[in-house]
Amino acid sequence: MNSTSTIPATRTAARNHDSGATLQLTDVTLQYPDGENGHLTALDAVSLKAAAGTVTSLVGPSGSGKSSLLAVAATLVKPTHGEVLVDGVDITALPDAERTALRRDKIGIIFQQPNLLPSLTAVEQLLIAEHLRGVKPRKAKARAMEMLDVVGLAESASRRPHQLSGGQRQRVNIARALMGDPSVLLVDEPTAALDHERSGSIVRLLCQITRDFSVATIMVTHDTEFVPLTDAVATMRDGALSDAGNVAA
Ligand SMILES: Nc1ncnc2c1ncn2[C@@H]1O[C@H](COP(=O)(O)OP(=O)(O)O)[C@@H](O)[C@H]1O
Ligand SMILES: [Mg+2]
Repeated sequence: MNSTSTIPATRTAARNHDSGATLQLTDVTLQYPDGENGHLTALDAVSLKAAAGTVTSLVGPSGSGKSSLLAVAATLVKPTHGEVLVDGVDITALPDAERTALRRDKIGIIFQQPNLLPSLTAVEQLLIAEHLRGVKPRKAKARAMEMLDVVGLAESASRRPHQLSGGQRQRVNIARALMGDPSVLLVDEPTAALDHERSGSIVRLLCQITRDFSVATIMVTHDTEFVPLTDAVATMRDGALSDAGNVAA
């Protein structure tokens, strides 16, 4: 087997595990300490599957647990109970270092605020994490240019954040999340700071990327108008999934 291959053969095999679910949460409960001896249940026995090449919209009122669900799936917060499988690996059972490596290699995170560094150009924003992944500078630069092209910003590679529109900054954020060739994309209200037209084009771009890169995407959104563009919808209420299913054609 060619050990220098960028996509390990095991990854393809693992994706076929459990009928194609790339991300699978089973009976996940997350409690935060609250008051003297009490606790607040942010996630209450949540089970959710996301397959490669599909976008699942995650909707529900403010405070219902949507961001908590993404934080658990992103390995940023360890659940109190339950199992989180990414490409067939239970991330809740991994030691810290392995969990960090898995997050870097398999998970792309896109939050509402792009969090770009003001002094860096678009292409430089994409290169920050690459030395951590052990990618050689020339290869990293080529990948970064390719990802900027994917989000329609090939011409803007040397622009700094203040020279980009809000929608363009969010595109840089998306391109950055793709650098490590993730299996899972976790997107939290990507359009909250954008006008209607730009919001639509960002959601369409995320749907396109999900198919082209065959990632499993979960997108928290307030814009229920864009939900029909996605493949499935899950509704959260008081920490529980009250409804999950395919988007009607
Ligand atoms: N770090 C935290 N510590 C304590 N409580 C939290 C924390 N993060 C979120 N919560 C609480 O968990 C619940 C779910 O919050 P969140 O997941 O942010 O909901 P949403 O994204 O749907 O608005 C809320 O009651 C919130 O106050
Ligand atoms: Mg939230």
